[in-house]
Amino acid sequence: MKIVTCIAPVNIAVMKYWGKRDEDLILPINDSLSATLNTNFMCAKTTILASPDLKENKFWLNGKEESFEGKRLQNCLREVQRRAKDMNPDVLGWKIAICSENNFPTAAGLASSAAGYACLVSALAKLYNIEGEISDIARLGSGSACRSIYGGWVRWHKGELSCGEDSVARQVVPSSHWPEMRVLILVVNDKKKKDSSTSGMQRSVDTSDLLLYRSDKIVPKRMEEMITSIKNKDFHNFAKLTMQDSNQFHATCLDTYPPCVYMNDVSHSISGLVHKYNELFDENRVAYTFDAGPNACLYILEKDVEEFLSVVNYVFPPPEVDQVEYLTGMPLENRKIKNDLINSLNLTRNEPGLLKYIIHTNVGEGPTSTDDHLLSLNGIPLK
Ligand code: DP6
Repeated sequence: MKIVTCIAPVNIAVMKYWGKRDEDLILPINDSLSATLNTNFMCAKTTILASPDLKENKFWLNGKEESFEGKRLQNCLREVQRRAKDMNPDVLGWKIAICSENNFPTAAGLASSAAGYACLVSALAKLYNIEGEISDIARLGSGSACRSIYGGWVRWHKGELSCGEDSVARQVVPSSHWPEMRVLILVVNDKKKKDSSTSGMQRSVDTSDLLLYRSDKIVPKRMEEMITSIKNKDFHNFAKLTMQDSNQFHATCLDTYPPCVYMNDVSHSISGLVHKYNELFDENRVAYTFDAGPNACLYILEKDVEEFLSVVNYVFPPPEVDQVEYLTGMPLENRKIKNDLINSLNLTRNEPGLLKYIIHTNVGEGPTSTDDHLLSLNGIPLK
C-alpha cells in the first residue's frame, strides 16, 4: 500500500477569472492573477491511501463522506492516472481512499475549492509519481485551483488551444519578491445564499455584454500594468488596479441577467472606508478585492497593517460575545485608534458584530507534503 499527504494554499485573485469558454475542460475567457497565501493560516490538507486491501474508492471531505463519482473529482483522477500509465501498474489498479479538510471554517464562505483541488491533485501526483506540469490538472477540478499550484504571485494563462494544454498557471514572482505584502481577510456576517461561482459565471457568459468587453478590451492591458506594478513593488498602482478589477468584476455580475449580487452593505462600507483612508494620505495604502461573496480581502503593506486595523476595529466593533477567535493569523499588537484619525476620517461606529472575524496573513508558498496523515493505514479517517 502507499499513503501520501499534501497541504495546499488558498489564493486570492487581484485580476479576476470570471467566465469559461469550455465548461468541461474549465477553460477561461481571460487571464487572471493572484497571490498565494501562507498555508500556516489557511490551507487544505489531503491524505490519499492506495491499497490492494481496499474494496472500494472512498472520499471524505471535512469529516463527511461524499460521493466518489463527482465529475470534477473523476476528471482530475482520470487525467493523473493517464499520465501515470508508465509507473508501477499495480498501484494504478488499487482502490483509493481520499480524506480532505480545510483548516479554516468553510461556513465563512471563503474560497475553499481552489485549495481543495490543488491539494487533491498534488497528492494524486505524488501518489502516482507524476512529474512536471500539474496546474492544468488542478484546473479540471476548479479553475482558480490551478493558481494554487505555485507560490508567490501567479498568472493563469487562458491559453488558445481547445484541448486546454496551454491553459496553465505560471509563477510571476516568488513570495520573497515583495515580503512586506500582507493580507487582511474581513469575514462578513451574512446568511444569504449566493449563486456559486460556477453557475454565476456561466450566467454572465450567457447574458452579460460587459463581460466580453472586459475580457477583450480591459484585461489584456490591465494584466501587463498589474505585472509591472508588482515587479516594481509599486503599491499605489497595484492597489488601484486591484480595486478597479474587483469593481469591474462585480459590475459584470450586476450586468448578468438575473444579476449575481455578491457584495452586501457591509462590503460596500468597507470599500468606502478604504477609499476614505487612501484619500487622507493622498496615496493608496490599502486595496480591497471581493470574490463571489461579501468578504473583503485587503492587500496592505506591513507598515500600515496596525493602523488600518485600528480603523477597522473602531468602525466595525467585534461581536460582543466571541464565538471564534476574532483576530487570527500572524500576531499583531492590537493598537487603539488615534483620536486625530477618528476626526480626520470623520468615522462613525457601527453596531458590534458586522464582521465575524479577521485573518491576518501574507503571501506564501505552493503545495507541500507531510507525514502527518488524515487516514489510518486501513483507510479510515483518524478523526
Ligand atoms: C470570483 O474557480 O471557484 O474567485 O472554475 O467553476 O470552479 P470554477 O470557479 P472558481 O471561480 C473563482 C472565481 C473568483 C475569481 C478568481 O478566483 O479569479
